[in-house]
Amino acid sequence: MKWIYSVSLAVSLAMQPAFADTLSGPHPMTEQARDAYVNQLLSKMTLDEKIGQMRLISVGPDTPKEAIRDMIQHGQVGAIFNTVTRPDIRAMQDQVMQLSRLKIPLFFAYDVVHGQRTIFPIPLGLASSWDLDAVSEVGRVSAYEAADDGLNMTWAPMVDVTREPRWGRGSEGFGEDTFLTSQMGSTMVKAMQGKSAADRYAVMTSVKHFAAYGAVEGGRDYNTVDMSPQRLFQDYLPPYKASLDAGSGGVMVALNSLNGTPATADSWLLKDLLRGEWKFKGITISDHGAIKELIKHGVASDPQEAVRIALKSGIDMSMSDEYYSKYLPGLVKSGAVTMAEIDDAARHVLNVKYDMGLFNDPYSHLGPKGSDPQDTNAESRLHRAEARDVARKSMVLLKNWRETLPLKKTATVALVGPLADSQRDIMGSWSAAGVAKQSITLLQGMRNAMNGKGTVLYAKGANISDNKGIQNFLNLYEQAVSVDTRTPQQMIDEAVAQAKKADVVVAAVGEAQGMAHEASSRSELALPASQQKLLAALKATGKPLVIVLMNGRALTLVNEDKLADAMLETWFSGTEGGNAIADVLFGDYNPSGKLPVTFPRSVGQIPLYYNHLPTGRPYNFEKPNKYTSHYYDAINGPLYPFGYGLSYTTFTVSPVKMSSRTLPRNGTVEASVTVTNTGKRAGATVVQMYLNDPVASLSRPVQELRGFKRIMLQAGESQTVRFKIDAEALKFWNQKMQHVAEPGKFNVMIGLDSVRTQDAQFDYL
Ligand code: BGC
Repeated sequence: MKWIYSVSLAVSLAMQPAFADTLSGPHPMTEQARDAYVNQLLSKMTLDEKIGQMRLISVGPDTPKEAIRDMIQHGQVGAIFNTVTRPDIRAMQDQVMQLSRLKIPLFFAYDVVHGQRTIFPIPLGLASSWDLDAVSEVGRVSAYEAADDGLNMTWAPMVDVTREPRWGRGSEGFGEDTFLTSQMGSTMVKAMQGKSAADRYAVMTSVKHFAAYGAVEGGRDYNTVDMSPQRLFQDYLPPYKASLDAGSGGVMVALNSLNGTPATADSWLLKDLLRGEWKFKGITISDHGAIKELIKHGVASDPQEAVRIALKSGIDMSMSDEYYSKYLPGLVKSGAVTMAEIDDAARHVLNVKYDMGLFNDPYSHLGPKGSDPQDTNAESRLHRAEARDVARKSMVLLKNWRETLPLKKTATVALVGPLADSQRDIMGSWSAAGVAKQSITLLQGMRNAMNGKGTVLYAKGANISDNKGIQNFLNLYEQAVSVDTRTPQQMIDEAVAQAKKADVVVAAVGEAQGMAHEASSRSELALPASQQKLLAALKATGKPLVIVLMNGRALTLVNEDKLADAMLETWFSGTEGGNAIADVLFGDYNPSGKLPVTFPRSVGQIPLYYNHLPTGRPYNFEKPNKYTSHYYDAINGPLYPFGYGLSYTTFTVSPVKMSSRTLPRNGTVEASVTVTNTGKRAGATVVQMYLNDPVASLSRPVQELRGFKRIMLQAGESQTVRFKIDAEALKFWNQKMQHVAEPGKFNVMIGLDSVRTQDAQFDYL
């Protein structure tokens, strides 16, 4: 017994970081203790070991496991990403603790964007819930599952505001609005990091992509961003700031340039603003290969210059390029880079490792050997109930003509469409360690709900797209989309035959997972032609047509809006998506989601967003006039506005009551409305409060979201919803780039979407 004890003690001592003698733990989680520890550690490190800490790599063709083992042994790697199982992570941490000189633990990171093993709706869907408790739940569960897999950090949340539906990465973010995105991002950070990123079931977040990645020109991924400082500070920066204020330990730097300077080379952005004004203390990480890309951006002529610029601009850790390790030693030797600059970057890495608790226990997220799950993908490791609950809340009812929905469970339903039975697509992009086989398709979900009472007649009806170029794009690296080899007409005929036998047709159409992802910009936003033809044929049967959309961006749906009797936006709803959609279709859940993006009528209208500036010649919908700002060849305005979404019940909103007609300098004023459920069922809705500054030193948006509340009302029930307004809510960046609230009149608009609002005024003194 004694012998066993002493062996295990010896092993555990060997596992301790190297300076446990001078800096013996436990290490208190205070900044002071951290600084002392890290300074001492730095003083023992060689230049190569410091540079090693600044390197983040993943296992791949260029860096196979054996090469990584060698690098680990020589202290040449600081962190690993894309390794997501406990045995694999443990093996690498063992190598550090057993083979390296200083035994500085690695941290392990991954893109846990909307779930780890259990996949929740894509962030655009989460934003549609307008439910911060639900988002918190997603953050907690995702962090739990990620930490349970041994991870310490996530590359999330993605808070890039975007007004560009052509950009495929809008699916990873929270939509077009600054306020909503800020709320979602900061909630996610708090939920994932918990009380401390060192906790067993917390992970550190890395907010991305700093900055303004969502504004790439034409929605072309990785492209240029050029915008006024006012717009940048007013509309694009606040969500990053809010997520950092919530405590995010990391920042991932964007791939785009901003006003001509690539973010990776932008010392104003990463030093003056982020560290100087915002007082950020955590770690900055370049995006994949971004340091190398400075050469193609045309701001560095060779690798040495790229490395020098990136380091001096404030990039602490390089993701997936070997440039830092290869060129920094020479740059220090030549004096182009100073040791103090290296120390700064390495210190930031060591600081976050300290904050993750890794110096107390390098295995804190791994537990003892032998405790690893027998089956990483075990059903028992999933959180299905939470996923179903959040997924239901993320769905937006766009149309419901004559109460086509909810459906009866005793009905005969023809379920058709290329997305009706796709386990992979329903998970959406960046579905982390989610396993397609574990996700519930709509076909399965409807069968579960009907439970033998009614009948589902299934037919695929169409391929995602018949365009060979698009099929090849989607299947470039793996067989992501299965292509049915029957002719389009044969598939449509089969679907029509099923439709004719049914009481109602449900068509699951939209985008494949890979159509709304990184590097998947689109020049058209319509449903692919194959799916449009299918819908037209289904409509021709005369059966009621319910369109269930699965997609990762706003689409142009003018035609579908005409064809459909009912239309439900389900985004990519995750592991439990099929059950959740069935809950909504059959009325077990009354839809309550609201759009976090404007749905345009055509691509030509883009950018089209609700919080635009006024013009000198506004278009008047009631009295169209030639010399006003509009398109003469189309209906103007969106198809579905920001904040829009129907319910199976109806609500009314009372006129706005102001607690006072004036808002004093340091005070608040309260705007309230009473919302009544005037229908026959219980239902939730989202009360939205917008402000407008009609006369200011700069043109201010026609309206801006400044508050929202999700409420649940029984049939016939009323609730008064109050919004407190203070000067902070009125502030904007003026011409001199001062953040000010200017005295004068303000309009308050409160409603259940951004268009139909009740309005009131107050004066800011
Ligand atoms: C993406 C990042 C992501 C990283 C690591 C990059 O290509 O732009 O958002 O976190 O890869 O997977």
